[in-house]
Amino acid sequence: MNVLGIETSCDETGVAVYSTERGLLADALHSQVDLHAMYGGVVPEIASRDHIRCLLPLIEQVLAEAGIDRPDAIAYTAGPGLIGALMVGSGLANGLGLAWGCPVVPVHHMEGHLLAPMLEDEPPEYPFLALLVSGGHTMLIAVRGLGDYDLLGTTLDDAVGEAFDKTAILLGLGYPGGPALAALAEDGDDAAFALPRPMLHRPGLDFSFSGLKTAVMLLVKKTQDEGGFAERRADIAASFQRAAVDTLVGKSLQAAKQEGLERIVVAGGVGANKLLRKEVAERFEGQVYYPRMAFCTDNGAMIAVAGAL
Ligand code: KG4
Ligand code: ZN
Repeated sequence: MNVLGIETSCDETGVAVYSTERGLLADALHSQVDLHAMYGGVVPEIASRDHIRCLLPLIEQVLAEAGIDRPDAIAYTAGPGLIGALMVGSGLANGLGLAWGCPVVPVHHMEGHLLAPMLEDEPPEYPFLALLVSGGHTMLIAVRGLGDYDLLGTTLDDAVGEAFDKTAILLGLGYPGGPALAALAEDGDDAAFALPRPMLHRPGLDFSFSGLKTAVMLLVKKTQDEGGFAERRADIAASFQRAAVDTLVGKSLQAAKQEGLERIVVAGGVGANKLLRKEVAERFEGQVYYPRMAFCTDNGAMIAVAGAL
């Protein structure tokens, strides 16, 4: 069975064809980063209009690459996301489903991220712990089987990707902030500033990142007032990244232990963070699974495979 996957929840138009017999047949992505950069963040109306412009040509492209005229089923991101952007994917998926007479499957965006490692050659077996870290979510989930999910912890305020993005703005970096902040951090000393590890030493598996963000804001102001902000930006970025990663890894280890899980999946945009990947691999005694880098951030392949499963 060939499944066409459509992702339009935010600022990437992602389309793919996944075959249940042959795996991923085609995958295409159009990023809107250039369109939103001058505004310092995603402008929903611009996002929706660009999805309208790009979606159909990308679908024609992946069907041609996969060597098929039409899929056997269509999967699309139904939410969560920007409502106008989601409506573009939903409208086209349902329209094509009607025209082609094939089933149309709505997919939860975070379940797409969760199942993205199933596209790899050695996918994780159930059960596993999923650390889902994106621009809108920070979740620890006990995955006992397909569709059998227990939410163990989530963020009480900002998502970790959002904290990266907002901290990046404080440091004068553009949008999208996460990758830019991680790059700046490579030149910095991560022990230069003692920043809080929110909730890390409290019981429970929830996260909170707004306090960390505020601590960075105060630190930026202090170094600006005292002078030396420009020279210390990399140190601030590295200290922030270290605090955020310590918190994510600490809570993940705690969750795995509590639930007796021996496998961890790290997925979602922040899963592309090199320090996070390194620390989970070093500190967790069990097996760690990731999607390939390109499928950590939003893409059509994860929606196609989730729909197929
Ligand atoms: O999953 P995703 O592409 O979209 C959402 O579902 O939100 O995640 C985007 C988030 C952004 O906040 C972005 O700054 C962050 O992932 N991100 C990173 C890195 N690459 C992307 N954060 C830290 N380090 C990275 N290398
Ligand atoms: Zn996402």
